[in-house]
Amino acid sequence: MVRLRLWEWCTLIFSLVCLLISIFNWSIVPSIYFNQVKKHLEFRQNKDYSYGYSTFMLSQPPINNVMRFFFFNVTNPDEMIYEGAKPMLKETGGYAVITHSVREILFDGYNDPLLSISHSQLIYVLSGILNGGDNIIPIPIPPMLKMGFFQGYNNTRDEEYLVNTGKNDINRLGEIKSWANRTSLPENWWSTKSARSINGSVVDCDLYLDSGSFCKMNLQKTDKLPFFQSFMCRSFTKTFLEETVVHSIPSYSYAVPYEDYDTTADHNIGFRYENVEKVNYYPNWPSCPELVIL
Ligand SMILES: *[C@@H]1O[C@H](CO)[C@@H](O)[C@H](O)[C@H]1NC(C)=O
Ligand SMILES: *[C@@H]1O[C@H](CO)[C@@H](O)[C@H](O)[C@H]1NC(C)=O
Ligand SMILES: *[C@@H]1O[C@H](CO)[C@@H](O)[C@H](O)[C@H]1NC(C)=O
Ligand SMILES: *[C@@H]1O[C@H](CO)[C@@H](O)[C@H](O)[C@H]1NC(C)=O
Repeated sequence: MVRLRLWEWCTLIFSLVCLLISIFNWSIVPSIYFNQVKKHLEFRQNKDYSYGYSTFMLSQPPINNVMRFFFFNVTNPDEMIYEGAKPMLKETGGYAVITHSVREILFDGYNDPLLSISHSQLIYVLSGILNGGDNIIPIPIPPMLKMGFFQGYNNTRDEEYLVNTGKNDINRLGEIKSWANRTSLPENWWSTKSARSINGSVVDCDLYLDSGSFCKMNLQKTDKLPFFQSFMCRSFTKTFLEETVVHSIPSYSYAVPYEDYDTTADHNIGFRYENVEKVNYYPNWPSCPELVIL
């Protein structure tokens, strides 16, 4: 029988402790980590009615969104409309033609004489008598009562989303089941089923694409991350862009690639603008006849 000396005992015990810690780290920690992440990601409400972490973040996004609006005056409208010229833009204050505050021009709207008269009771009655109910004003009148670029869109309330909470499968977190009580976009929005589909995850609703969206865990560079942006009236798919570092944590960043916007690509045929006015806007472009003569 071998008698161990004290330092040998110490080394042995120390080694055993190290081995146990290693086994623990190797077998238990990944699942503890996974469960912690899942617990924070999953959309849920606690027993005391408070929100889980991601639910809280979704309801109170921790971002300070600053929007800047630029106004341009098209200085060659006639050449543009009648000769298919490229629009010439000159940045302006926007309110130099008419006197209204930016607030009114953007969000609150102002009473535009044409809009007001067009939607007035008098025109309504006259249209009924003289024109069988069709508006007697011979140009299309927007269905808005006030003039404004984003009139009524401040403090915007988007439609209702029904999304996956990730409870049963955390990788389906945020996946949209329905938007505005529909599972795909209306037929008259886009011409193909694929363009009309409501794909992937909800985004933190905002006018912008740089708002947060939800995706699965353990992302790989090959992953494709679809999401739906109601203000753009369509879905997009983010793909791997680059490796980056956020707060000294190595990360992957994903972005909507150029191809998703490219309406000359066959898979985007549903997003093509039908050139109803039949103007060749790009006479110098060599090889895109289908873009011009639709
Ligand atoms: C915008 O351009 C037109 C020329 O098309 C010009 O008459 C008008 O004064 C310009 N308005 C502003 C605000 O620059
Ligand atoms: C935005 O909308 C709210 C009502 O939802 C209104 O009270 C407010 O004055 C509007 N305008 C701006 C510029 O915030
Ligand atoms: C949602 O749509 C279904 C049928 O597609 C309808 O039965 C239901 O009433 C709708 N719900 C709302 C809130 O509009
Ligand atoms: C939505 O997803 C389907 C299935 O993956 C795809 O065929 C379609 O092109 C996608 N639509 C958009 C607009 O990304």
